[in-house]
Amino acid sequence: MLHAIGSKKELTELEYYAHVADILENELVQELKNYRHHISTNRFQHCVNVSYYNYLICRFFRLDATSAARAGLLHDLYYYDTKDYRRDYRRSGCIRSHNAHHPHVALCNACELFSVNAIEEDIITKHMWPLTKSRPQYKEGYVIVIVDKYCAALEVIVPKMRMAMRKLRRKKKAAA
Ligand SMILES: [Fe+2]
Ligand SMILES: [Fe+2]
Repeated sequence: MLHAIGSKKELTELEYYAHVADILENELVQELKNYRHHISTNRFQHCVNVSYYNYLICRFFRLDATSAARAGLLHDLYYYDTKDYRRDYRRSGCIRSHNAHHPHVALCNACELFSVNAIEEDIITKHMWPLTKSRPQYKEGYVIVIVDKYCAALEVIVPKMRMAMRKLRRKKKAAA
């Protein structure tokens, strides 16, 4: 089963899947499941979430939905714990912040595994804008800027809401 947060659709049965199957099925991309991301999800699921909504929005606006979907899956393709990087950054004070660093690591990793076009490269490297200096060069790059933050917010809020609902249900049952 493969779902994006906030959607019940089985992604492997959609047209979307044909555009990204080679990336999703890659062993090294699958390894992202071992990295925690945004507190309560893993990096693979976050990339799926961003990729799917990137695809839907870009398709709706008749932009390059395929590049948007592929770059969405690759935008956080890095293999270290974000917390560890931030701790080392604070200690040393002389290396790039995580916001500036990880998009370039993700692009290097993506280029080793897949062929990456100019739009995808721009989407991956600028996805942290405006927290980083360079603006996206393509419209698809502005889509991921919004989608990435939207998904991050959902990934934090949805599990908390589910937990609160479960508690409420338990309380109601106990009171009945
Ligand atoms: Fe990122
Ligand atoms: Fe992200």
